[in-house]
Order: sequence, then structure tokens, then C-alpha cells
Amino acid sequence: MGCASIPLVSEIREAVKERYSGLAKQLAVKPAAGASCGDEAGACCGGYAGEQLAEIGLTEAVSLGCGNPTLLAELRPGETVLDLGSGGGLDVLLSARRVSPGGHAYGVDMTDEMLELARANQASSGVENASFLKGTIEQVPLLDGSVDVVISNCVINLAEDKGAVIREAFRVLRAGGRFAVADMVEVETLPEEVKRRLDQWAGCISGTIPVDTYRGLLESAGFIAVEVEVYETRGIDGQPGKIGSAYLRARKPA
Ligand SMILES: C[S@@+](CC[C@H](N)C(=O)[O-])C[C@H]1O[C@@H](n2cnc3c(N)ncnc32)[C@H](O)[C@@H]1O
Repeated sequence: MGCASIPLVSEIREAVKERYSGLAKQLAVKPAAGASCGDEAGACCGGYAGEQLAEIGLTEAVSLGCGNPTLLAELRPGETVLDLGSGGGLDVLLSARRVSPGGHAYGVDMTDEMLELARANQASSGVENASFLKGTIEQVPLLDGSVDVVISNCVINLAEDKGAVIREAFRVLRAGGRFAVADMVEVETLPEEVKRRLDQWAGCISGTIPVDTYRGLLESAGFIAVEVEVYETRGIDGQPGKIGSAYLRARKPA
């Protein structure tokens, strides 16, 4: 770790990559051993509908998310969806089904092993209108105004510069486009020593920000109709402070 009290961006990115490349390898051989964003083991908590999962031949075990962002956005045939930090690809493949015919779903992820897993899941799902792109959520490899809906599941908290991620979401959305995200937030201030831990950053704890800060970043990027719902909270191993699972919705002005 560098001299600064919080870890450097490059250290954070490397720790996040390392964790998710390891999890991708585990999921590739044994999907039932999936973990949610902050846990070492145990399936995700998204509440995905069984019949939708059956359509793409996957189970919730492939998800490392903390919610189900596809529930937040009413996706319509013909629309273009972007998932920031697409992991094993579950939300992309579900979205692709919902925007068919005529629509397309993109996933962006920086971890090669995750992209490989997502593409393997796509091949077994038979979904054709989806693409997984290598890139960072701070610099999305898509054109301005090219997307109707940005979704994301438990990823923005992992970025050191959340403002950059939210400005990218705004840039790639068309006028009137929707932001529909599940993420972890800080509900009660976490101790400094927790904020400094790279393992807890990669585990979706240390990088969380308070709801008001998140709301402020969305509004400063230009989003309107910002709505945040924290639907579950939990403590951190007997330490002070609490984090929560949240749904965040906003719109780019028409
Ligand atoms: C907690 S997992 C969530 C994956 C997926 N959204 C899901 O719900 O299963 C975080 C994912 O985001 C990716 N990721 C984290 N930070 C990223 C960044 N700055 N740019 C691109 N991908 C990132 C990781 O590689 C990993 O696949």
C-alpha cells in the first residue's frame, strides 16, 4: 500500500481484478460455489425469477451481485442496455432476452477471466443479441448517447473514482435514458482501518459511500429524478459502521 491513508487507485484496481479473476475461475468449474459481492460463499440475493433463469439456462449462483437491477428498469424490445461490471453475464443475458427483438445488451468488464466466463455462459444460453466488451467502467468503450438503459449490480462501490463512472453512464446514455443500479452503500460511517483494507474494498465494503454522496454525484453529472432505496443493512464483523444494499434509479433529461 502507498503512503496515503487510503489505498492508491492502481492498488485498488489490482486487488479488485485479483479477487474477481479468482472468483471467475471458481464459478467456471463450480457455479454453486458462487459468492455475493461481500461474501466468501453463498449464492447471491437477487430474487431472480426461476422461469427467466430457465430461459437462459443459468442459475443465480453465477451472480456476484447484491440485487437484481433488471427488476428496476422496464426494458422494452428494441432497446440497448449496458451493464457496468458484467461479471459472469447473468444480468446482460436476462436483459438481452427482454430487449429482443431488435435490441442489444452489452456488458463491460475489466477482468479477462470474467469475460471468458460470461462468453461461455452466453454460448450455453443461446442468447445472440449480447456482447461482452473488455474495458473499465471509468472509460466505457461505447459511443456518446448510444444506450437506453445503464444497469449495474454491485460494482460502482468497487471503483475508486465513482464520479468518473457516473459521468460515463451519463455520457453513453441517450437523452431520456435510464440509470437502474443495485449497489452497496455506507449506512453508518465505517472505521478508517476498514476503509484502508484492500480485501474489504474488493469485498464491496470499504469503497461504499453514503447515500447522500451517491445522490450528489448523480445530480452533479446531470441526472434527474434520482431515487435511492436502501432495502437491507448489515454490520461489519462486530465493528462500528454499517453498509446496506440499495437500488438507485435516475434519468438523463430528455
Ligand atoms: C461484484 S462483481 C459483480 C458482477 C456482476 N455484476 C454480477 O452481478 O454478478 C464485480 C465485477 O465488476 C468488475 N469490475 C470491478 N471494477 C471494475 C472496473 N473499474 N471496470 C470494469 N470492471 C470492473 C469485476 O471484474 C467483476 O466482474
